[in-house]
Amino acid sequence: MKLSFDYNNMMESAIGDQGIRDAQVKADAGLLQKAFAQVKANRGKGWQEWTELPYLDKSEIAAMAKDGQVVRRAAKSFVVLGIGGSALGPLSVATALLHFRHNELPPKIRKAPKYYIEDNVDPERMRALLDVIDLRSTYFNVITKSGETSETLAQFLTLYSALKDALGKEEAVKRVLVTTTIGKGALYDIAKAEGFKIYGVGKGVGGRFSVFSPVGLVPLACLGIDIRALLKGARDMAAACIKTAGKSNPALITAYLQVKAMQAGKNVSVMMPYSDALKFMADFYGQLWGESLGKAVDVSGKTVYAGQTPAKSLGVTDQHSQIQLYTEGPFDKVVTFIAVEKFRASEVITDDASIAGCEFLKGRTFNELLDAEFRATRFALAKAKRMNFTVTLPEISAETVGELLMYFMYETAFAGALLNIDAYNQPGVEEGKKATFALMGRKGYEDKMQEVEAAPFDKRYVI
Ligand code: PA5
Repeated sequence: MKLSFDYNNMMESAIGDQGIRDAQVKADAGLLQKAFAQVKANRGKGWQEWTELPYLDKSEIAAMAKDGQVVRRAAKSFVVLGIGGSALGPLSVATALLHFRHNELPPKIRKAPKYYIEDNVDPERMRALLDVIDLRSTYFNVITKSGETSETLAQFLTLYSALKDALGKEEAVKRVLVTTTIGKGALYDIAKAEGFKIYGVGKGVGGRFSVFSPVGLVPLACLGIDIRALLKGARDMAAACIKTAGKSNPALITAYLQVKAMQAGKNVSVMMPYSDALKFMADFYGQLWGESLGKAVDVSGKTVYAGQTPAKSLGVTDQHSQIQLYTEGPFDKVVTFIAVEKFRASEVITDDASIAGCEFLKGRTFNELLDAEFRATRFALAKAKRMNFTVTLPEISAETVGELLMYFMYETAFAGALLNIDAYNQPGVEEGKKATFALMGRKGYEDKMQEVEAAPFDKRYVI
């Protein structure tokens, strides 16, 4: 495992009475053991199929890498259509591993198509996409596990029509890759009828746990990302997470500390990467943590209203917007810092000694400044007795990113087990999806429409 974890600032010994006592951790050893055993025993079973994804057959990985190479050579632009778990994996990894200004780089240096990940249905966004891509040299990957999600189907229908108009049907079909559940859903039926290339998503792989399946691997391969190294990182982290129920299991101990914090009223989980490249890791984590743990009932049906609200924050940018609240506001947060030891660039601020008044910056690097800002913020939070812990990447690479994502997933699984909730369903999301179908007039949703219309909202409080 290349990542390191520092949870000192979660403990009473570092932050005083807001922290967790060592004796408490010792007393809860049985709880940790139980959660560990439950997650370990269910590896590869039911909704825990995601745990087996990094061990995918080598020939399947080779096939995806090869397909990716074909797309990469042919495409000038590559568009992912999907939402939620079908978009955030590719988005967070591509942003972490590609050049920060990838799309603006000259094609010779870029070596991979421009990319667009369309995880919304804002009409202005769709129009803007059509304004910037040349359909004649664009490839699409439509990703939806259910094959039924309105947003993804809408994106697909618009772009496939435009593609057919631009290229004719025979050529348009070659430009669309589909990732969905084999044999199920509207998109699968369309893909079969049209003749698109189809990649399958395993039945027991939920959207937010699918980044190491074709959901993540196909688009990332198309963008030239080393998917084998990504999976190696995932395996290395998995090994650390299933080895022991002791304190050296990073996902188990941090899940436990988060759950303890929740039980002490710390209902907000802030994810704060000190790296622009890792900015969307906070989005990935936010969906995973929020959708998996936010549950009304536990597995026995008891009302629990569990969960912790994820908040996204970027170091240092949000030091100048949110940190005041985190340091002096309510004691309701845990901050997870993501730090990077060695960046892929090093920039000296200036060697110009002629400007007076800011000597402390001369001859220093942006790297030193960013690191100092991170350490200073962590110090200020700890001094104000605010719980926080740090995950450090030695560098940003496919391997360390694979480790980070796998750590998030195991941490979520252990937290779900500790909370005794089902981390793999999302009844709240499903309800909204059904109401959307009803409001859009989908056949079979007439009763839902009646329910929506009869909902007891009136106009009394509308201004
Ligand atoms: O994690 C989840 O299951 C959800 O966020 C889904 O990924 C999201 O709703 C999109 O669903 P689908 O992939 O079926 O289009």
